[in-house]
Amino acid sequence: MNRRNFLSLSGAGAAAFALAVNGYTENRAWASTAFPSYPFALGVASGEPAPDGVVLWTRLAPEPLDPEGRGGMPSGNVRVEWEVAEDESFTRVVRRGSEVTLSELGHSVHAEVTGLSPAREYFYRFRAGSEISPVGRTKTAPARTASPQSLSFALASCQAWVGGRYAAYRNLAAEDLDLVVHVGDYIYEERNTEKLADFRRLHSEYKTSPDLQAAHAAFPFVVTFDDHEIENNWADKISQPDGEASNSPERFVELRAAAFQAYWENMPLRRDARPEGPDMRLYRRLQFGRLAQFDVLDTRQYRDDQLQEGFPSAPLDPRAVDSSRTLTGDNQERWLFNGLEKSTARWNILAQQTIMTQFDYDTGPGVAVNHDQWDGYAASRARYLDFVSRNDVSNPVVLSGDWHSAWVNDLKSDFGDAASKTLATEFVSTSISSGCGWAGAVAAAVSHNPHVKFADGSKRGYTRCTVTPETWRSDFRIVTSAADTADPATTQNSWVVRNGRPGAQQV
Ligand SMILES: [Fe+2]
Repeated sequence: MNRRNFLSLSGAGAAAFALAVNGYTENRAWASTAFPSYPFALGVASGEPAPDGVVLWTRLAPEPLDPEGRGGMPSGNVRVEWEVAEDESFTRVVRRGSEVTLSELGHSVHAEVTGLSPAREYFYRFRAGSEISPVGRTKTAPARTASPQSLSFALASCQAWVGGRYAAYRNLAAEDLDLVVHVGDYIYEERNTEKLADFRRLHSEYKTSPDLQAAHAAFPFVVTFDDHEIENNWADKISQPDGEASNSPERFVELRAAAFQAYWENMPLRRDARPEGPDMRLYRRLQFGRLAQFDVLDTRQYRDDQLQEGFPSAPLDPRAVDSSRTLTGDNQERWLFNGLEKSTARWNILAQQTIMTQFDYDTGPGVAVNHDQWDGYAASRARYLDFVSRNDVSNPVVLSGDWHSAWVNDLKSDFGDAASKTLATEFVSTSISSGCGWAGAVAAAVSHNPHVKFADGSKRGYTRCTVTPETWRSDFRIVTSAADTADPATTQNSWVVRNGRPGAQQV
């Protein structure tokens, strides 16, 4: 990559560019537009692939671990230029523009590029002052009316910090994918993560991983948060007891606002996803021609409170089946059902956080479930499964994370009756790096849950999904250890769903 070529097409020189850089007035040393060190230390990313464009993301942070959470940046605005090309050496630049980054938004860039061609690979990069970012690769979605023959993506979740290296992401970055779907636990908050500066610093630390950066630079990401981006097992405005004391509602709303703000600043999300205080509209829909529709859910912000905190399970609370309970909130559920009703997609995918299948952890006559998952909100699950069944929604597939273990589940009309109809298929991806101390509890109970075809908490990795009009294939890709990037990933096993026949079969 020749960094000097950045403005070669426009003919603008370094002097002209310097005039476009604002905001160095507080610290005179910055008046030269020189950064104390490389400002693109967090890498680059793209997201929200549409037929005509993508979101390009970066964040200026020459000192990522700055305890003030400012990434080593002064206050004030800094202009960042971006360009998109058809080729990696930027000889065919097709779009360029600039964004003014603000200190109150963590000097983040969320450039919404439009005017691109559908189903096409592009390369992008940024410039601030005389510094040029690494090059990212991205891909637009197919045209809405197109009938693509294939879509491939990776499902990822739960990437606890294991020192900076991620074997799963190192391997994922080498796959041939159209996108990555991340269903949460992108960071893990700590006891002292309280203020915006703390959340920013934590996101920055994770983003310093060269493997995570490589994955972002290779594919567009579609992201949604789970609990640990904010606080363990939070529910709406309710903080969960975690051994010592939960936050008061007033304090938790402040914490949620800080966490949402830092999340948005650090993700390739659209501008309209920017939080307003403690509220953030994250659920949304993405289409890949007539092949696939992704309904990306937020099952934390609008949920009723958990009924039981027992971990990994507690005896089934009779209120869990109360018809008034909701995991998604009424508005999101209505939006989901409306979208499913109108869908013309062959595969209708829910990209969301917690496990949907019923799962009884009690190997005796009792019933014990994890009330943080859909089992604690059985009416929400029943409404979804009933809806896809009654409306003949084409090939419903549920993608989940959260539980640091890989699962393949038949979602049944009656989970108590193995002979009842399978209405949808669920794939749960194992964690990128987070451990699964409850793997034994899962393994012990699998045989008591015949609709669960596979469950394993002992491996780290991601799920590679290849979707064609006739077949869905999921490959569970696993690594030998979370932070050891030396070994290549292997495929633990593979599962196929045939068009029109819910339920996966092992290959
Ligand atoms: Fe997690």
